Amino acid sequence: MKQGFLGPEDIVTHAGDDYSKHLGAIIPPIYQTSLFTSKEISGGYYYSRASNPTVELAEVKIAALEGAERGLCFSSGMAAISAGILHYVKSGSHVVMHRNAYVPTQHFVGRYLARFGVTVTFVAAGDCASFEAAFRPETSLVYLESPSTFLFQIQDIEDIARAARLRGIATMVDNTWATPLHQNPLALGADLVAHSASKYLGGHSDLVAGALAGKADTLETIARNERDLIGSCMDPHQAWLLTRGLRTLPLRMEKHAENTRKVVAFLQQHSQVTRILWPGLEDHPDRALIDRQMKGSSGLFSFVPKFGRVGVEKFLKTLSCFEVGPSWGGFESLAISPGLFMAEAERTEMAIPDNLIRVSIGLENLETILSDLDSALQGSRA
Ligand SMILES: Cc1ncc(COP(=O)(O)O)c(C=O)c1O
Repeated sequence: MKQGFLGPEDIVTHAGDDYSKHLGAIIPPIYQTSLFTSKEISGGYYYSRASNPTVELAEVKIAALEGAERGLCFSSGMAAISAGILHYVKSGSHVVMHRNAYVPTQHFVGRYLARFGVTVTFVAAGDCASFEAAFRPETSLVYLESPSTFLFQIQDIEDIARAARLRGIATMVDNTWATPLHQNPLALGADLVAHSASKYLGGHSDLVAGALAGKADTLETIARNERDLIGSCMDPHQAWLLTRGLRTLPLRMEKHAENTRKVVAFLQQHSQVTRILWPGLEDHPDRALIDRQMKGSSGLFSFVPKFGRVGVEKFLKTLSCFEVGPSWGGFESLAISPGLFMAEAERTEMAIPDNLIRVSIGLENLETILSDLDSALQGSRA
């Protein structure tokens, strides 16, 4: 086993790998097996719903990237998120959640867990005082997603987690947008980090996967209860694809960030764009907080065009390099407008303008990306 890693580039390439175990193969084989046989009671691997070496390799790398004692992989981001939330609630618990967390996460707590008597208070602001004001004696979990979905609002993870801890409340953070390269919520005091590995961690839009990272005892309990009993384990082939994607994470994130910086600079000057929502903006209202808790920005952001919803439909249809679709964080540039598929009441509650356009900047040639955006913007003007 290699030692002495200095950076994330070493973690993704070598952490957890032991080539001597696999005839020196640089790529470990996929343990595509449901069970492991043994005539001994060995305490080792026995059934892939509970543990599998291929899945564990991805878990080791993700834990090391997050600076966590342990990582745990799941069949999807929502499987990881729901397992983490279930770990911290029981009947009668109260959850405080950011208003613009990923919508299915909001629905899981606000709608699904309501049948078990779990209540939720949504907080729109990102400061500690606003979260503290929502705490109740029965609050057991604060759920943050910083930056948040669609509007990319920032929450003060360190202050909120400290205030929560003082009251015995756990803090969980969806860190999908930033990736462990740009933000480490555990180092800021959070108890649990969640990822949709379907995005940047996988990076190739060829898998749906999720992960949690945190303290070893917490993760062991989640593995035995919320993952094993519900059966939301990661498949070995999925884990192999995830590990393959992880190996190029630092390289891909650098290119996503470089392309995005230039696309944002271009859109800031564009006559058809009125507002850009991206945590990388120099004059972002939360600049000081962003600098305190983040090390970089990724390639997913939103902008508000001058034209309305009809123009937005035209814009999406006119794009040619960009595809139109959900998800993000893959090699390909994508665009979508929540105004076209979200329930109006929910969109209004989340303060999302109906002509907002969200783009995921991919790894294509920068000039191709810029000229595609420019012609679609020009062709959609009112
Ligand atoms: C911020 C965020 N968290 C979680 C998820 C859920 O992940 P998955 O689709 O892998 O279940 C998504 C998916 O889009 C997301 O955008």
